[in-house]
Amino acid sequence: MRSLARARSIWLTLAVTAGCAQPAAPVPLAARAPAMPAMPPGAPRPGEWATWSHDQKLAYMKGGFMDAERAVFTAWEPVRYRDLSCRTCHGPGADDGRYRMPNIELTRPIRGVEGFRELAAQEPGVLRFMQKAVVPATARLLGLPEFDMTAHTGFSCWQCHVPQEDP
Ligand code: HEC
Ligand code: HEC
Repeated sequence: MRSLARARSIWLTLAVTAGCAQPAAPVPLAARAPAMPAMPPGAPRPGEWATWSHDQKLAYMKGGFMDAERAVFTAWEPVRYRDLSCRTCHGPGADDGRYRMPNIELTRPIRGVEGFRELAAQEPGVLRFMQKAVVPATARLLGLPEFDMTAHTGFSCWQCHVPQEDP
């Protein structure tokens, strides 16, 4: 019962998107949450990304973007992500050269509150890292607005992951 209550409070903490509220239950991993990476040279200004050509996007991904993402991922799991590559995110898109996202070979989380609640209970560290580090850092690096829970628009998990079919 206790652990259920704790899991629920972690979930509630994670559900606070603004991030300004003090977490109800301290999550130890918070101490390891990386600072936002500095904006690399040549980063798109807000809203500019969608107007870039494929070649412009390719050049940026190979340069500043990749360095910044490596910093984000290695702050979390330095051994596992020492060799973070285009393929880690793009999967087959890195082989065919089109780099289309999302990548169907990544884990396929379940869309919606119940799936996220389960993830929060079973893999709180992963969810926290994805929600608090990967999503905001990547959105910022691409000059895209972060996901807005109310409006349901913006950069989210689904720019990288393909959700599992609804049960
Ligand atoms: C941390 C994850 C991540 C890594 C690592 C990464 N990318 Fe990307 N890349 C993305 C995302 C997300 C998008 C799509 C952004 C959008 O438009 O929504 C993208 C888009 C692209 C695009 C534009 C694709 C299109 O549809 O025109 C290219 C090209 C690209 N990446 C190349 C690369 C290359 C080359 C590397 C390695 C040097 C790389 N990426 C590494 C996440 C990543
Ligand atoms: C910029 C792309 C990107 C975004 C956005 C993103 N992820 Fe991920 N996710 C990844 C990559 C890359 C991996 C690791 C793949 C690997 O290690 O081979 C991953 C791994 C995972 C895993 C498995 C972790 C493990 O230890 O194997 C889960 C679960 C997950 N993500 C959930 C989410 C959720 C939920 C969101 C939204 C809150 C999200 N991701 C947002 C790129 C992304």
